[in-house]
Amino acid sequence: MKKAIVLTGITTTGTPHLGNYVGAIRPAIRASQDVNVTPFYFLADYHALIKCQEPERVRQSSLEIAATWLALGLDTNNAIFYRQSDVPEILELTWLLTCVTSKGLMNRSHAYKAAVAENEQTPENDSDKGITMGLFSYPILMAADILLFNANKVPVGKDQLQHIEMARDIGARFNHIYGEHFTLPEAVIDEQGSILAGLDGRKMSKSYQNTIPLFEPEKKLKKLINKIKTNSLEPHEPKETSDCTLFNTFKAFANADEVAEVAKRYAQGIGWGEMKAILFEKVNAEVAPARERYDALLQQPAHIEEQLQQGAKKARAISQPGRSR
Ligand code: TRP
Repeated sequence: MKKAIVLTGITTTGTPHLGNYVGAIRPAIRASQDVNVTPFYFLADYHALIKCQEPERVRQSSLEIAATWLALGLDTNNAIFYRQSDVPEILELTWLLTCVTSKGLMNRSHAYKAAVAENEQTPENDSDKGITMGLFSYPILMAADILLFNANKVPVGKDQLQHIEMARDIGARFNHIYGEHFTLPEAVIDEQGSILAGLDGRKMSKSYQNTIPLFEPEKKLKKLINKIKTNSLEPHEPKETSDCTLFNTFKAFANADEVAEVAKRYAQGIGWGEMKAILFEKVNAEVAPARERYDALLQQPAHIEEQLQQGAKKARAISQPGRSR
């Protein structure tokens, strides 16, 4: 049986946080151990340039993200783990796809439309201000990432759903003109429990500055968990578990029995200080072993690079023209 190809990219502009871990990294690492799939996971450093024109930050973020995935036990024998810019065929395909993509399709992209809407709010009212062609045609680069390897499934957050639909449209258009070259991908959205809240209770996101970095040293992790916003109920007052950031975060790390136990404590009026201590212990127990490996890996950037080069070699064995698919 032919293995299913599961592909996803990680934009290299930041340091991985607990929300990334629970929502994307942890499920992807688990999936990498499934022998019935070939996962393609890559560092989307060309995508990074759309939002961030600081090479040093992109470089540092690539290193941190690669170290994170390796420290967490990504199975690089099964998974193909590479850096987008090490596979030049992605950019070659981007142009071929650009020439079959209608401008009207790109006009409908949420990311582009949001940027235009924001510009129209300013007194200058210049709808094009600060919008590069990179931002405008971003979905074409993403389509090339996906179509190049004939990915079957693409796990992404809800915000990326439109991009997968565009990849299908673009792939279908290309197939219609030039013959059946590309598999049309399907998005895989993990609905349940994949979105973690940040320190202020909104979705954990770099743009809200409410994140808890995944491999923060133990003391800092504890400090940040202590900062998570709660209501002002006193110890001994019964508390609701729904909409409680502490509870929902605990749920992402604990088994069903542990969750039931903590829910009982809420009803009995657990104090927030105690709940924060419980949450810290739980999160720390899961991340501490990987944190040690992560710190060690960051001291050996050459080793990380070697892994990425091996991944690029495997990817290019498929992407280079004339090679078999
Ligand atoms: N644009 C995606 C994001 O910001 C990252 C990405 C780039 C991606 N290329 C991809 C995801 C291809 C899935 C498939 O999250």
